[in-house]
Amino acid sequence: MKILIINGPNLNLLGKREPEIYGDASFEVYFRSLQKQHPDITLEYYQSNIEGELIDKLHEVGFNYDGVILNAAAYTHTSVGIGDAIKAIDAPVVEVHISNVYAREEFRQTSFIAPHAAGVLVGFGLKGYALALQSFLA
Ligand code: DQA
Repeated sequence: MKILIINGPNLNLLGKREPEIYGDASFEVYFRSLQKQHPDITLEYYQSNIEGELIDKLHEVGFNYDGVILNAAAYTHTSVGIGDAIKAIDAPVVEVHISNVYAREEFRQTSFIAPHAAGVLVGFGLKGYALALQSFLA
């Protein structure tokens, strides 16, 4: 089982960025603990602030990985290109948001990812990534 977690723009600053919304834990530390909990699967992590690089990564893994956990961050609300990439690939994509985007500004309630996602997890903090991973294992 091969699963890739992809984080989009500004999520490299998790732990430092708006901790009242996104928490004070760094993603790298959380990711390593997730890997330790699942020694039986190949769990990888990729982050980019660049829309085209996120699309390239989806193309790269989308025909040979078993699943992708994607937090496209702000691109969720703007990127037809990322939505089209998810539609184009074979691997199921689970959309994750750390914060409850439905309790925030109205523009965050539009997702170009959700119509093509296998499922969506919103508002559970970093635990959302573990729940998304469970969805591939159950
Ligand atoms: C986010 C929510 C987005 O609206 C925002 O642009 C982010 C993070 C989240 O995980 O809660 O950067 O995707």
